[in-house]
Amino acid sequence: MTSMNATSTAVSTLAADALILGFDGDVTSHDLLDESVRVAIAEAATALEASAKVGSTVVLPGTGVEAKRVVVVGIGDGSEGALREAAGAAARAIGTRPTTVVVALPAADDAAASAIAEGAVLGAYSFNAYKSDDVVAAYHGPDWLIAGASDAAITRARILAGAVAGARDLVNTPPLDMFPGAVAEIAQSYGAAHGVEVEVWEPQRLADEGFGGILAVGMGSSRLPRLVKVEWAPEGASQHVAIIGKGITFDTGGISLKPSKSMETMKSDMSGSAAVLHTVLAAAKAELPVKVTGWLCMAENMPSGTAQRPSDVIRIYGGKTVEVLNTDAEGRLVMADGLARAVEDNPDVVLDIATLTGAQGVALGTRTAGVMGDDDIRTEVVDAAGAADEPFWPMPLPDHLREGIKSKVADLQNMGDPNGGGMLTAGVFLQEFVGDTPWAHLDIARPAFNEGSPWGSTPAGATGFGVRTLFRFLEERAGR
Ligand code: BES
Ligand code: MN
Ligand code: ZN
Repeated sequence: MTSMNATSTAVSTLAADALILGFDGDVTSHDLLDESVRVAIAEAATALEASAKVGSTVVLPGTGVEAKRVVVVGIGDGSEGALREAAGAAARAIGTRPTTVVVALPAADDAAASAIAEGAVLGAYSFNAYKSDDVVAAYHGPDWLIAGASDAAITRARILAGAVAGARDLVNTPPLDMFPGAVAEIAQSYGAAHGVEVEVWEPQRLADEGFGGILAVGMGSSRLPRLVKVEWAPEGASQHVAIIGKGITFDTGGISLKPSKSMETMKSDMSGSAAVLHTVLAAAKAELPVKVTGWLCMAENMPSGTAQRPSDVIRIYGGKTVEVLNTDAEGRLVMADGLARAVEDNPDVVLDIATLTGAQGVALGTRTAGVMGDDDIRTEVVDAAGAADEPFWPMPLPDHLREGIKSKVADLQNMGDPNGGGMLTAGVFLQEFVGDTPWAHLDIARPAFNEGSPWGSTPAGATGFGVRTLFRFLEERAGR
């Protein structure tokens, strides 16, 4: 994104590469769109079989308007979610590297205007940093003009879309360049710029303080692990939320090596930590009156002569021991350290977010994440997700699965019941480390990374899933 601003000028008079209008059976009216222009465009769009189906697009030459072309996009029922997806789809239909785009979709209120602006920016997102064509690599999207939006709506959308795009960038960056130490440095430089305090645990300190999970998972790599704390602590905050993110910068499976096909998308295994970092930064930019502590559990899970072995016993922060029967169930080991440390500060609530299990995708598919934990916090997350239009579905933590994580030689083991329910078993494992702190666990394994084609405001590759829900959760806690 280069810039995003509201405009209150008649949209037909704005010079731009494209003007985006809505369609719900007719081209939707807008305070800033002349009725005669609207009717002419509607006639042309109808001739080209424009549809109200969300995200279906028709592109017209810009006759009668100053924009070079007009994108007419279906907005379905016109709900906030439909508008976000429509704006995203329209943004992808504009053409190659536009410099200015005007969006004039019908928003009933600030929340809808914000969703439209977010959707446009996020639909237009592409990751170009590694293209050798300098023009392509330097392109960061058009200047956006959102017709009729309030300053508050623009500000929120700018912060939130920036956070989602930031999380996508971290995950999309190849693991050659995005390793634990690199993430720690990025967190430090972003933190310094935005009033977020950042503290980094280097390997020696992790060892001294007993972070046995993060160390065990990370010791197979030449690029050693880190624990990164990022904190937004405004004066007078009455609530303290802790959020822990899984940050496996690449998951080979370790000695329990993954098949090559399953490994292809495993740069996405740091998506939880990317979401946490950018949510905390967004909270700071929005000056949310709530204290937020993010914990990024960073490690690269590699097989090598220094890697942990199946049957090793490790000691998680706080003392519990775990028999590692499968080094590919590494997420719960780093997350256990993070959770155990986070609850030590007595936050009011702790959330954790992780690309934890393939079983999440088996249960819920590629677009719906699972949320487990204490009933009321789980409900609070589902509600925040509903408001943010990110599908999170409540899942149970059945008591009987506790049997499966018992070990003959240690307090726990990291595999569990072989008869399915792998997402729930991982949740039950994490529950061992949260004590009495109100808690929910978010498994975003598949929604974090889109292996298919773009749809709505979701591009191929990293999606930034979870940022909007976490931010909404914080807003609710802050009373906004
Ligand atoms: N990072 C994976 C989970 C994953 C799978 C994320 C597919 C995204 C897409 C995790 O570390 C893992 O390997 N989990 C194992 C656990 C098993 C060994 C108990 C899994 O799901 O197979
Ligand atoms: Mn794994
Ligand atoms: Zn993993």
